Amino acid sequence: MSHDAITSLLKESRKFEPPAEFARKARISSREAYDALYRESLDNPESFWRRETKDLVFRTPWTETLEWNLPHAKWFLGATLNITESCLDRHLSTPVRNKAAIIWEGEYGETRTLTYAQLHRETLLLADALAKLGVEKGDRVAIYMGMVPEVAVAMLACARLGAVHTVIFGGFAADAIRDRVHDSQAKVVITQDGGYRRGNVLELKSTVDKALAQPQAKSVQKTIVLRHLGDKCPVQMTEGRDVWWHDIVDPNGHATREATIVDAEHPLFILYTSGSTGKPKGVLHTTAGYLAGVHVTSKYVFDLQDDDVYWCTADVGWVTGHSYIVYGPLSNGATCLMYEGAPNFPDWGRFWRLIERHRVTILYTAPTAIRAFMRQGDEWPKKSDLSSLRLLGSVGEPINPEAWIWYHQNIGGGRCPVVDTWWQTETGAILMTTVPGASASKPGSTGLPMFGVVPDVVTKEGQSVGANQGGMLVLRKPWPSMMRTVWGDDERFRRTYFSDVEGCYFTGDGARRDEDGYFWVVGRIDDVLNVAGHRIGTAEIESTLVSHPAVAEAAAVGRPDDLKGQALVVFVSLRPGFTAGDALANELGNHVGKEIGKFAKPDNIRFADSLPKTRSGKIMRRLLKDVAAGRETTGDTSTLEDLSVLAKLRTSDE
Ligand code: WT7
Repeated sequence: MSHDAITSLLKESRKFEPPAEFARKARISSREAYDALYRESLDNPESFWRRETKDLVFRTPWTETLEWNLPHAKWFLGATLNITESCLDRHLSTPVRNKAAIIWEGEYGETRTLTYAQLHRETLLLADALAKLGVEKGDRVAIYMGMVPEVAVAMLACARLGAVHTVIFGGFAADAIRDRVHDSQAKVVITQDGGYRRGNVLELKSTVDKALAQPQAKSVQKTIVLRHLGDKCPVQMTEGRDVWWHDIVDPNGHATREATIVDAEHPLFILYTSGSTGKPKGVLHTTAGYLAGVHVTSKYVFDLQDDDVYWCTADVGWVTGHSYIVYGPLSNGATCLMYEGAPNFPDWGRFWRLIERHRVTILYTAPTAIRAFMRQGDEWPKKSDLSSLRLLGSVGEPINPEAWIWYHQNIGGGRCPVVDTWWQTETGAILMTTVPGASASKPGSTGLPMFGVVPDVVTKEGQSVGANQGGMLVLRKPWPSMMRTVWGDDERFRRTYFSDVEGCYFTGDGARRDEDGYFWVVGRIDDVLNVAGHRIGTAEIESTLVSHPAVAEAAAVGRPDDLKGQALVVFVSLRPGFTAGDALANELGNHVGKEIGKFAKPDNIRFADSLPKTRSGKIMRRLLKDVAAGRETTGDTSTLEDLSVLAKLRTSDE
């Protein structure tokens, strides 16, 4: 990350105390209360986690809180449970039974509500159908769906059986599905005919067909297809493999499917995420620790109250959707709004009309969306009544103070606290933020550690650096919702997260801690980019590009971008016989779109005779970053093999 970014964050000194009105009713209502809980979570984790999980359903209580054999943590040993009993069954004997669990709105404005009783019923019916198709405890089930209530039903139904779901974001292309199905050896795929996105039909089933036609995907025995668009998206059903959801789930059936009781450390889901190699990692989360993490953070970070209408705008295909649309809120009996479509469909007022219509009280969204709205002007939010909102959240990337202030003023009317939540697919739950009734927030800072979390900013040698000094962001202690391993590759787990800084989990992020103990995350310092809140591995882009016949070498780097945070710039050198130009650039962009997904298409493709390398043959990414950003190279170029390469790259800019 550049020095400019660090300096600009350093200049920010505004501080927003929790509004008195908010604090009075908040679950944690003073800084002292937060401090006491935080201390207890470290000094006496046993009593802390016992009390904070007392609403959850354990069939057998745990006997040991933590067993830590670096890098392997086991939490709540001896406990048995099924996560769906905490998310669904436990509410049935309370007034939450008839409360909305999910309020859904489609892109065309139609709505559906599922109460907790209905969600429970739908889940048990599907679980029963899955069991009849042969899904057993421990089997993997891939889910490739859009934002419809049934995606939550599908996840919960897997969990009901102790089966492991792997949700694949609906924006991924067929080859990405194939790779994930192959790596997880999924037995069943659950999908839907299609979904709407910005008025267009997104064909999901036919994309699954393309993935499953490939030999690497032969583990799949059945696909279940939800009819969502019907005539608007005809599909082909493969005899013997494909079944309709409505043919296997009997709406009049008896929803009696017993929960399969599993051990605390039984796998709950695998979620693939990009890292610094070409192959996505299957991040594995297990049951009890994950549940404890998302339950406690949903409750306190969003200050969930009985009458809240909570809206997390993420897609269920990312970890934010898993933790803060499905498991966290449901385990608290909250009402969640789920919206199928795009923020700007049919216009930029859509989000604000959704808030007005459903009287949303808590909004959790991403900086890239906030910046996009900001760019459209203040008129759009002004057209709707946003007075129901009481809390705002941000996640996915550093939020620049300007966007923070805009969000606070124009969306929150200056009265709602803003929680900037830092976490990762790997951490399962929010690890840093400012608890809204307790701690002041500072625009651009992700705040203080959540319970049980010990972040630090260190040098490569693991030495803590002083206040306001930049360094590597690490976590010094295990936490309940941490990933347990990389699916099928434990060595990669150790290497990726526990080999950079002795004894610590390395996050891949750079950060500083200010004089008040507030953390300021600067961004990734490994080879991972964050483009519009999407995590993209540079190596993945590079290996996709070199798989194209025209490409000899490729290097992908990030460039600062006002809207997306980072934009993806690639430099390619060509094999003999291919000609650089717009036509080829287009073709390469489409190639990435086809192999990974449209969201990963480079923003800019540049051709070069060769890429700048050190004498030992390593591509000099730092130089390429400077070139991409149009900066003068300030760093050391003495190891550059051929300086003329650099000069040529610069002139190829014009
Ligand atoms: C990376 C994790 C957390 C769920 C969504 C993204 C960046 C995330 C923040 C924040 C600054 C943030 C980090 C992190 N990030 N939240 N509040 N402030 N940076 O999950 O795809 O696993 O990405 O997103 O760089 O390492 P992910």
